[in-house]
Amino acid sequence: MSEKRAIYPGSFDPPTNGHLDVIERAASCFGEVIVAVVVNPQKRNPMFSLEEREAMLRDCVAPWPNVRVEHFRGLLADYVKSTGDVIVKGLRVVSDFESEMSTALMNRSLSRVDTLFLMSDARYSFVSSSIVKEVFFLGGDVAALVPEPVLAVMSKKRTSLVNSR
Ligand code: PNS
Repeated sequence: MSEKRAIYPGSFDPPTNGHLDVIERAASCFGEVIVAVVVNPQKRNPMFSLEEREAMLRDCVAPWPNVRVEHFRGLLADYVKSTGDVIVKGLRVVSDFESEMSTALMNRSLSRVDTLFLMSDARYSFVSSSIVKEVFFLGGDVAALVPEPVLAVMSKKRTSLVNSR
């Protein structure tokens, strides 16, 4: 196992079994893994607050003593530069590669940081936070795709959204 620390960044809105699979495998390769939750995801306003996303992740990573959950604002390259580690990402499909390649090259040019990729487990190659949210909030069953603590938080959120209508 490498002594290096890996930073696994993401929106985690919400965390899925695909994320957890990457975290578990990274934790077996690196001395320490920091799951870094971006405060303001670029794509859209998150459905889950930063506190909710961090709490869900902390519940999920509890079994792995070398995994910590933190958050960051602004550029990932600045956050990683301050820690001097490598970035780890999961790759699901070819379209991921296209965007991840430019992101990895930009982060390298900004802070000389390397990005290492783990191929997603085939069971999760179609799983994203967005698709899980869409299916769940339209009444579909996502129990096989998210960790149990995440499903519990999603169910609560669905109830509070329904009640607020
Ligand atoms: O889970 P996501 O939404 O795919 O994660 C994307 C994330 C958070 C890794 C990416 O948007 C990011 O690094 N955001 C921080 C801002 C930044 O550094 N942007 C420039 C990337 S080259």
